[in-house]
Amino acid sequence: QIKGFVFDLDGVIADTSVYHAKAWRQLAEKLGVNWSSELADGLKGISRMDSLNLILKTGEIENKYSEEEKETFAAEKNTNYLNLLKNMDETAILPGIADFLRDLQEHDYKLSLASASKNSPLVLKQLGLSMYFKNKIDPTTLKYGKPDPEIFARGAEVLNLKPEECVGIEDAKAGVQSINGAGELSIGIGDKNILSEADINFADTSELTLENIKKALD
Ligand code: BG6
Ligand code: MG
Repeated sequence: QIKGFVFDLDGVIADTSVYHAKAWRQLAEKLGVNWSSELADGLKGISRMDSLNLILKTGEIENKYSEEEKETFAAEKNTNYLNLLKNMDETAILPGIADFLRDLQEHDYKLSLASASKNSPLVLKQLGLSMYFKNKIDPTTLKYGKPDPEIFARGAEVLNLKPEECVGIEDAKAGVQSINGAGELSIGIGDKNILSEADINFADTSELTLENIKKALD
């Protein structure tokens, strides 16, 4: 029986994955690394440093820079990202999400957030959704990033639920793999071909309703 929902943030609750991509693209092009939709998809869900390393690897320049220089690049990306977030408000909540969260709360489901982003408290605050997510995982306390199951396993733990009592919701392939590895029911939001490992697929967040989930499980 399902008792809890573990949410990814960027690209599921908030329309911020486009901002992450924009900020990374700026840095990638400065470093002479070709931007592609494959690279953009690969960057979804993974941590800031993992993202930078993937960009450097894609450009075959993974050994070119010192750790210190890499820290500087990552900080530069984050400054760009924060600039893009500046004017973000509740209009950046993805379609149907506000209603879905309200519905889940009314039905007494427990909610937690499994976001790799260190900016997630800020994003939730700007969207006016902090009250739904008293149970957040501090990504700095994680040993492994997505696709490792750790973050989604912790998402169930903080709710005092077993993984099989939880649904995980993700827009990234690495995220779906993390949910599956943790033993939760996985919902993938977005391209079915990319998220083929998800138990349930929805094309976008407007399809994310309790009714549709029940239908999919029938
Ligand atoms: C994930 C995003 O939620 O957080 C990634 O999907 C991002 O694109 C990652 O790189 C880390 O975010 P931040 O805000 O800590 O740099
Ligand atoms: Mg995401």
